[in-house]
Amino acid sequence: MDMIVGGPGAFIGGVYRIAACLDGEIELVCGAFSSDARQSLEMGAKLGLSADRIYGSYKEMIEHEHETGEMDFVVIVTPNHVHYEPAILALLAGFDVILDKPMCHSLEQARHLSRTVDETGRTLCLTHAYTGYPMVKQPRQMILRFDIGLVRKVYVEYQQGWLSHDNVNSKQTQWRLDPKQSGPSGCLGDIGVHAFNLAEYVTGLQITHVCTDLRSVIDGRQLDDDVSVLLRFNNGASGVLMASQICAGEENSLKIRVYGDEGSIAMHNARIPAGHPESYIEAFANIYRNFARTVRAKKNDEECSSNELGDFSGVKEGVRGMTFIETCVANSRKDNEKWTALKE
Ligand SMILES: NC(=O)c1ccc[n+]([C@@H]2O[C@H](COP(=O)([O-])OP(=O)(O)OC[C@H]3O[C@@H](n4cnc5c(N)ncnc54)[C@H](O)[C@@H]3O)[C@@H](O)[C@H]2O)c1
Repeated sequence: MDMIVGGPGAFIGGVYRIAACLDGEIELVCGAFSSDARQSLEMGAKLGLSADRIYGSYKEMIEHEHETGEMDFVVIVTPNHVHYEPAILALLAGFDVILDKPMCHSLEQARHLSRTVDETGRTLCLTHAYTGYPMVKQPRQMILRFDIGLVRKVYVEYQQGWLSHDNVNSKQTQWRLDPKQSGPSGCLGDIGVHAFNLAEYVTGLQITHVCTDLRSVIDGRQLDDDVSVLLRFNNGASGVLMASQICAGEENSLKIRVYGDEGSIAMHNARIPAGHPESYIEAFANIYRNFARTVRAKKNDEECSSNELGDFSGVKEGVRGMTFIETCVANSRKDNEKWTALKE
């Protein structure tokens, strides 16, 4: 694989480098690690890559690696405004792609990415981290087997507190609070879309309608930092999604409860440092391994276990995520429309 990003001070890129290599199936062979060519070279050298495979920009890297044909897939871990273009370039150059959420800036871009995946026949994985946890896969299997009967009610929440004040200024906040870089939403696209994806993944259902309240609690913020959404599911179940970054005292508090007509399932995790749920690295490792095995099976026409084949979010989930974000943003601006349908 190659990496676009993960340079000095980057948050999630370093986590991915460990997760990707955990099973010994994936090797980092090249990269463009920063928008600054000098920093990219420094980082690549630190990672032990040979100088001719460290690039000053992702365009240069995709072009050159396309010519040599020595790299299989591209990992894109840049701020949200640098997702769409490198993903399209990589797919068109014949590479499979691992891309971070939210998939891009608009539903229009998401649909274009989806068409490009279809047209090129490549595989795209979206790193919805929480679908990688055994603790998430097990309730999904139980619900799909009707162990709790028919799903009636879902509560899902993701609370953080790191944006509780207006004085936070880090590499991570600078782009997240800027609509040009972050996209049409703040908290909704950053963590609300994880909760949305988790609710659909765990239940195997689809959310069809939303009724949304997006708020910017801290004065002067251009994007939402606090989100409440009422949900309706395609089997008639109802739900509540809460996501917030102004819950002082919370680190990464992710919870889901699903009530069926014969039983219920509740999950909450938060013990390792910085409040991330346990097995954070292993969850990503599961996503990277399932992606690598799917790509390899496709490439070599090999068998792949049905538990691993395609068990990661893809471009379909990316389109659904962007549909959710755009519909919630539009719904929250309407005073005379309670429920808005999710239309892809
Ligand atoms: N899946 C998850 O659980 C999860 C968790 C955290 C972040 N994310 C996503 O990961 C992405 C990055 O978030 P982060 O918190 O790590 O951000 P970050 O600001 O810590 O890191 C982003 C890095 O991208 C680099 N960069 C910017 N433009 C570039 C370019 N043109 N070429 C190469 N590098 C470039 C920056 O220099 C920086 O090092 C975001 O889309 C975010 O939503 C996902």
